[in-house]
Amino acid sequence: MEFERREILNKLKGKLFHLVGDVADEMGLECYVIGGYVRDIFLHRSSKDVDIVVVGSGISLAQAIAKRLGKKAHLAVFKNFGTAQIKYFDDEIEFVGARKESYRSDSRKPIVEDGTLSDDQNRRDFTINALALCLNKGRYGELVDPFNGLSDMENLIIRTPLDPDVTFSDDPLRMMRAIRFASQLGFFIDPVTFESIERNAERIKIVSKERIVDELNKIVASPRPSIGFELLELSGLLALIFPELVALKGVETRDGIGHKDNFLHTLKVLDNVAERSDNLWLRWSALLHDIAKPATKRFDFKLGWTFHNHNFIGEKMIPGIFRAMKLPLNEKMKFVQKMVSLHMRPIVLSEEDVTDSAVRRLLFDAGDDIEELMLLCEADITSKNPDKQRRFLQNFRLVRKKLKEIEEKDRIRNFQPPITGEEIMARFGLMPCREVGVLKTAIKDAILDGEIENDYEQANRLLLKKAEEMGLKVVKQ
Ligand code: CTP
Repeated sequence: MEFERREILNKLKGKLFHLVGDVADEMGLECYVIGGYVRDIFLHRSSKDVDIVVVGSGISLAQAIAKRLGKKAHLAVFKNFGTAQIKYFDDEIEFVGARKESYRSDSRKPIVEDGTLSDDQNRRDFTINALALCLNKGRYGELVDPFNGLSDMENLIIRTPLDPDVTFSDDPLRMMRAIRFASQLGFFIDPVTFESIERNAERIKIVSKERIVDELNKIVASPRPSIGFELLELSGLLALIFPELVALKGVETRDGIGHKDNFLHTLKVLDNVAERSDNLWLRWSALLHDIAKPATKRFDFKLGWTFHNHNFIGEKMIPGIFRAMKLPLNEKMKFVQKMVSLHMRPIVLSEEDVTDSAVRRLLFDAGDDIEELMLLCEADITSKNPDKQRRFLQNFRLVRKKLKEIEEKDRIRNFQPPITGEEIMARFGLMPCREVGVLKTAIKDAILDGEIENDYEQANRLLLKKAEEMGLKVVKQ
C-alpha cells in the first residue's frame, strides 16, 4: 500500500495537478482526478487524457485555471454538457461538475442534475473506472474507492458499481466496454455483470454504429482479440452487431465428413496476426478472410466440403459490411478487400511448383502489400497436425525466398507496363477499344511470364509483332 501511495504522488507530479488543487482550494471546491487516468496509474499503463470532477461547477474551475495559466492555455467550454477542456502544451484536461444522472429507457441522453462525488461515482461504468484521487491540499493524493475497485483491479475483475441492469440500461454501450476492457486488459467479467449483458444485449440497438465500431476496433486492436469476440458471441451481442461473423460458427457433417468451425478458425487466425502485427486493417482482414464461407459452402460427393471462390465473394461482401458498420469506405477498405481476395494465393502457390511466373503474378497483384499478405497467409495455417504445419511453413519460406529473388531481379512490385494505352492508341491511330486492351495485356503477360524483360525495347518489339498479327498499321513512329 505504501508503494502505491508513492506511485500515486509520483503520477500526480506533472499535469498541473497541484495548480488545479490550489485553485480549487481558493474557490472552496472539492475536486478529484477520476476514471481512466486513475485506473491506468494502478495498471502501470500510460494515459494521456485526464478527467477532473468538481463538486460544483467544473466550468468555473476550468476558467479560473486557464486565467492563471495565461495565453499558452487553450480553454474550450461546452455549456450544453456542463464541461470544459484545457489544453496546455501536451496536456489535455477535461473538467466536469459531479453529477447525478438518470436516463430514459429509449435514449442514451441523460437528464443531468448536480450531485456529490458519491453520486458521480455511482453513475460510472465499472468499479475500476470509479476510483477518484483528491487534489485538495489536506487530502492530496487520497484515494476514494467506495466499490473496492482497487481489489477488483488486483483480481482482474470487471464489475459494475451498481446493479448491472441499472448501469447497462443507463448506457448500453457499457456492455461493449466491459468486453473491450476484458480483451484489452486481460480481465474477467464478473458473472453477475456478464449475465446482465446477456439479459440486456438487445438494448445495444439504441447505440450509434459509430460508438459500437469504436469499441469493436479497440477489441480488434487488443493483444488477444479472440477474448473479446468469444465474449461478444457468448453474450448474444455479436449476433446483433456483426451477424456475418456468427454465421461462420458451427460444424456440419455429411457422410461422416465434417469441416472445421470457421468461427473458431477465424479467431485463431486473428490472434496469430495480432501476435505479429499491430496493423488494424490487417487484423480486420484476418477477421474477414473467410467471411464468404457460409455463402459458398457446398457438399460434393467426391471432394467433400468446398468453399469455391469464397475469397472473391468475400471481397465483394466487404463494402456492404463496412457501410453497415460505419467503417471507412476508403483505401483502408480497399486494402482489406485486396487481402481477402488474395489470401489463398500464396498457399496455392506453395502447394504447386513455385514457378517464377506465378511468383511474379503474385508480386504484381499484391504490390507493396506483399509482406502483409504473406503474414496473413502464414497466420491462416491453424492445422494442429505438426507434419502439415511444418510442410506449409517450409513451403512459405521457399515462396518468400523466391519473392525476394524475383523482386530484386525484375522489379515487379510496383510494376507499370513499359508501354501505356495512350501510346498504343497514338502509334496505331486507335480510339479506346478492345484491341488496345489486348495489346496491353499481351505485354503485361509476357513480362509476368518471363518471356520478355520489364524493358521498353523488348516490349516495343513484342507490340509491333502482335499488332501486325492483328492487322494493325503503325501511323506514328
Ligand atoms: N464512463 C462511463 N460510461 C461510459 C463511458 C465512460 O461511466 N459509457 C466513465 C468511466 O468512469 C470512464 C470515464 O468515464 O473511466 C472516461 O471515459 P473514457 O475516456 O471514454 O474511457 P476510459 O475509461 O478513460 O478508457 P479509454 O480511454 O481506454 O476509452
